[in-house]
This record gives sequence, structure tokens and C-alpha cells, in this order.
Amino acid sequence: MTRPDTATKLATDVSSMFDEVSPRYDLINDVLTVGNDRLWRIATTNALAPRKGMRVLELAAGTGTSSAAIAKHGASGVAADFSEGMLEEGRKRHAGNELIEFVFADATALPFDDNSFDAATISYGLRNVSDPRKALEEMRRVVKPGGRVVIAEFSTPPSQLVRVPYGLYGKYVLPRIAGVINRDAAEAYKYLNESIEQWPNQRELARWMREAGFERVAYRNLTFGIVALHRGFVPREVPKPAVVADATAPAPKKPAVKKPAAKKPAAKKPVAKAAPKASPAAKSATSTSKSGTAAVKKSAKQTAPAAPKQTNTVKPNAGDA
Ligand SMILES: C[S@@+](CC[C@H](N)C(=O)[O-])C[C@H]1O[C@@H](n2cnc3c(N)ncnc32)[C@H](O)[C@@H]1O
Repeated sequence: MTRPDTATKLATDVSSMFDEVSPRYDLINDVLTVGNDRLWRIATTNALAPRKGMRVLELAAGTGTSSAAIAKHGASGVAADFSEGMLEEGRKRHAGNELIEFVFADATALPFDDNSFDAATISYGLRNVSDPRKALEEMRRVVKPGGRVVIAEFSTPPSQLVRVPYGLYGKYVLPRIAGVINRDAAEAYKYLNESIEQWPNQRELARWMREAGFERVAYRNLTFGIVALHRGFVPREVPKPAVVADATAPAPKKPAVKKPAAKKPAAKKPVAKAAPKASPAAKSATSTSKSGTAAVKKSAKQTAPAAPKQTNTVKPNAGDA
């Protein structure tokens, strides 16, 4: 097996690596994470909060293990991946589960319409994508305004007490155990370890998410930060102004400036006590402005129902991702 170059992560190298490990992928995961992957999946599914009737995209879905967990909540899912081997394995395992559809798709050029999913998720896949920021933009594009995106990915344990032994485990122990289960897998897990070492930390990934257009981005660490769960929301549409000025229209003519009439000597009048009346012009100006305001408010209500407050602060273990 050719180990993909972590600098380029060529699509053909990455997909064929996963094609080869696909039959034993889930078993290797369980062994290498000492079963923690199952707990991480539960946390990821809870953060996504799938419900009956929702349409969820799982990107880089592999054999569809997370899609199956999502389907248990009654949501239908598209499990998208660009490794035919992983997709084939997934189709076999989840045959008969009508809520999961396996689709061949590259995360950086998704074959789905804008706003076509209620939510999207990606687990341990973003790190393997050659252009992860493009994949984030694609997720933002296909998820409806207000929809949520959840990312589970290996990350940087904040404590050195965890970081150092975990680094040694990844470098020396992990590929050996994987190699015992499947000889080819040793190379794959060397690559996976390198890709984890080069992956941005929690704060940096949160920044990428905000730059891709997500709002209310937050993350929390799982198992001392070995894995981090990030979540963000696709902003609701910004209300358009009710009246759009036509930039091409000729500028309105300025009213001719009236010369002030020559001052006549003021004739003394008796003081009238009647209440001052608004001139017809002033009256019409008042009513136009009132109805104009109402129109703008109404249109704002229609286009942006109760937009949630944006809090872009991302703290370690912050948020409810
Ligand atoms: C480590 S596996 C994770 C599989 C699954 N999400 C899980 O939680 O077990 C990474 C997956 O990402 C997929 N992948 C990597 N780059 C991709 C891309 N650009 N488009 C689609 N899938 C991609 C691989 O084919 C592989 O199945």
C-alpha cells in the first residue's frame, strides 16, 4: 500500500488507502481507541440532535457507522464518501436500512443542491480531505440556514501529561497493533498518525469554521482533548431592505431654490388662538414614513424569523457541541 503524502493528501492515494482497509476498518478503530470511538460517536450524535423527518448529510462517512446511529433517531441520512471500498462495506452492513443512502461524493465538490440538508456531520474525515476549508464551505452551502454542522476530529490535548504519552502511542504502538490486525493497515495508520500531528488545534479549526461562514462556533474536548467536537450553525438569511435604490436611475432634480420674498413691513395682526394645523405636504410625509417603516419591519420578520444571537467566542470546552 502506498502511504498518502500528508502534504498533498492526493484524492487517489487517500481513497485507495481506505479501499484497502475498509473490511477491517471498524474493528481496527474499536481496538486502537479501546472502545472510546463508540462513546465519541454517541457524543457526536447527541451534538447533532437528529430528529424524525430531518435530512442529515454525513460526509466522509466511511462504512456509515455514524449514519446508522443518526438513523436510530428517525432522521434519514446520506452517507457520502469517495472510497468505493468503504461505501461497499457500508452498503453490505446496513442493507435493509432504508434511512441510509450511500453516495459517492468528494467532500470538496459535493453533488448536492444548496440548502438541501437540515444538518451535516463529519467524523475523523475532515483531516483526510486535501482541502478541508473547501469541504467546510461545501457543508455550509448544502445545509439550510439555521442548520447545524458537527465535526468530530482528533485534536490536541491541552495537557502535556496527556499529549506526550498520546503522541508516543500514536507513533509507535498504533501502527504495530493495526499491522497485527491487517498487514496493510500498518502503513495506513502511520499516515493517520502523521495527519493527526499536522492537524490544527481546536482554536484553529474553530477559526476555519467561522471563516467558512458558520456562526455560534464552539467546541468541547472529549477524552482529554484527544478528540474535539466542534459545532457551528449556518446563519439565517439577512433580511433584504424593502426598497432597493436603482443606482442606474437619474438622480432626482433638486427643487429650485425659491428666492425669499422681499420683506414687507409686518402688519400687526390680532393673535389667533386656534391649534396649529399640519400642512397637507407634512401630513403625507408622516403617513408615508409610517407605512414605510411598517413595510420594512414586516419584511424583516418574514425573511429572518427570530435570528439567534451570535456568540463567536470559542473557549476550551465551551459551548454545547
Ligand atoms: C478515518 S475515515 C472515517 C470514516 C467514518 N466517518 C467514521 O467515523 O468511521 C475517513 C474517511 O474519509 C474519506 N475521505 C477522505 N477524503 C475525502 C473526500 N475528499 N471526499 C469524501 N470522502 C473523503 C475516506 O474515504 C474515509 O472513508
